[in-house]
Amino acid sequence: MTALLEVEDLRVAYGKIEAVKGISFTVEAGQVVTLIGTNGAGKTTTLRTLSGLLKPTSGKITFEGKPLTGIPAHKIVALGLAHSPEGRHIFPRLTIAENLQLGAFLRTDKAAIAKDIQRAYDLFPILGERRKQASGTLSGGEQQMLAMGRALMSQPKLLMLDEPSMGLSPIMMQKIMQTIVELKAQGTTILLVEQNAQAALSLADHGYVMEIGKISLTGTGQDLLHDESVRKAYLGED
Ligand SMILES: Nc1ncnc2c1ncn2[C@@H]1O[C@H](COP(=O)(O)OP(=O)(O)OP(=O)(O)O)[C@@H](O)[C@H]1O
Ligand SMILES: [Mg+2]
Repeated sequence: MTALLEVEDLRVAYGKIEAVKGISFTVEAGQVVTLIGTNGAGKTTTLRTLSGLLKPTSGKITFEGKPLTGIPAHKIVALGLAHSPEGRHIFPRLTIAENLQLGAFLRTDKAAIAKDIQRAYDLFPILGERRKQASGTLSGGEQQMLAMGRALMSQPKLLMLDEPSMGLSPIMMQKIMQTIVELKAQGTTILLVEQNAQAALSLADHGYVMEIGKISLTGTGQDLLHDESVRKAYLGED
């Protein structure tokens, strides 16, 4: 069986600086796969390349068996890959409802869009309560929920989340992690980039540890959670 997403020997550079130095990984349909690693490891660069926002210097990206390299970002969204970016990037002056609507910009099925907006409100009731409020007035955690809700509006087969727990309180973080589990149960495949290794590995089927542009370790979420080197480097144990 081919994986939903296959990345082979991917390299990405900013000018002369190579940020991703030949990484390979796969995401099987129905899984939650996490990419963990220290600051500057190349995680965001990897997601931005998968989304078509950055051009790789070499390597192969295959989604549902078809090559993604060279396809423009909006077409990649249309193929079923959505990205909730680091730092959220919601439109602060637009309302919550308008931000969600924008997530469906490629769709024309009005009734189904309305249903999916309702689904986002069911997932995150606070968004429903505040639907007419300018999004810039939401708290950080609420903006994160909106960013996830908006990414879901393109009905993705693969949802990529870049540090959804960044800056969140433990309760908000728990809520986001619970939502990831719920989305998985509803059939969405998820590629999760996280600094919070404990939270990410606890719910991931598979994990990859990235260090300065390379994948240094891979295993099931549980394997990595119990791996001594991971515990030392990412879970703060001596
Ligand atoms: N636009 C850019 N121009 C030049 N270098 C960049 C650019 N964006 C990122 N880099 C560099 O590429 C490397 C990888 O950055 P990236 O943002 O992918 O890391 P990351 O793993 O997402 O880190 P973090 O956990 O801090 O978000 C870093 O050394 C960074 O300084
Ligand atoms: Mg990053």
